[in-house]
Amino acid sequence: RTIAIVCGGDTSEFEVSLRSAQGIYSFIDKERYTLYIVEMQGPDWHVQLPDGTKAPVDRNDFSFRLSGAKVVFDFAYITIHGTPGEDGRLQGYFDMLHIPYSCCGVLAAALTYDKFACNQYLKTFGVRIADSLLLRQGQSVSDEDVIGKIGLPCFIKPSLGGSSFGVTKVNTKEQIQPAIAKAFAEAKEVLVEAFMEGMEITCGCYKTKEKSVVFPITEVVSHNEYFDYKAKYNGESDEITPARIPDELRDRVQKLTSAIYDILGASGIIRVDYIITEGEKINLLEVNTTPGMTATSFIPQQVRAANLDIKDVMTDIIENQF
Ligand code: DAL
Ligand code: MG
Repeated sequence: RTIAIVCGGDTSEFEVSLRSAQGIYSFIDKERYTLYIVEMQGPDWHVQLPDGTKAPVDRNDFSFRLSGAKVVFDFAYITIHGTPGEDGRLQGYFDMLHIPYSCCGVLAAALTYDKFACNQYLKTFGVRIADSLLLRQGQSVSDEDVIGKIGLPCFIKPSLGGSSFGVTKVNTKEQIQPAIAKAFAEAKEVLVEAFMEGMEITCGCYKTKEKSVVFPITEVVSHNEYFDYKAKYNGESDEITPARIPDELRDRVQKLTSAIYDILGASGIIRVDYIITEGEKINLLEVNTTPGMTATSFIPQQVRAANLDIKDVMTDIIENQF
């Protein structure tokens, strides 16, 4: 099969996505599949050719030309974090073309990409989430309302986005409005979320027609004030897999992750981030449906800790769509 590893996209996570694509490229079995990296940035879609040049992708049928011959992709491994790969848009495009892909479908992708909407939805199933306020573009909130309804410290972040772009941990009243402006620079919706004191953990999961795999949990110890961009990608954190938590709590987190997968009707690999607060309460932070796959990302770490071969995991993800 000929596979497009689709990366790039239209958000600040562009570079992270290119690194995820390199990861995916190294993980997929190249004896079994023919791989091409397809980079998208706005209307510019191109494929990297073996000779180092680039060829434009024909958006009418997601094909390109190699030495004059038309090549049509059999499968898309979507690894764009953010628009248009994590929010359902590309999923809809590939659905229309009947090209199978690696991750959640339109609804689950669109829902999970909106942290506020997804968390409110999962709350109706009994999942614990932080108190929060949503601001849509043009809306504002007074410092008094933030303090009165959410309290300090709080997190102010884009409701749509990832890799901590536009996120501020707000400790003082003076930081509130600048933090809102910073978050609005990244996305059209901003979330004001109560700070949860506790241990940050994350758990990956994928299911196929034959099996359900929940990975070991990773504990995140940021060297910074929270798990920010540098903690995520510049090594300014300790990531411990499996997390140093009691077995009973581990089982509950893995069960919840599997349940969230089913509630969302997810597909491919998802990664769910949580904060464990006092009394071993599991609080959802967010669901990621195109989790990072860079050399330092969690999913490859969790696959190793599970003693699985990531090549087999990739094959599972791909073959499950046929
Ligand atoms: N948004 C980043 C890539 C992640 O969730 O891993
Ligand atoms: Mg995320």
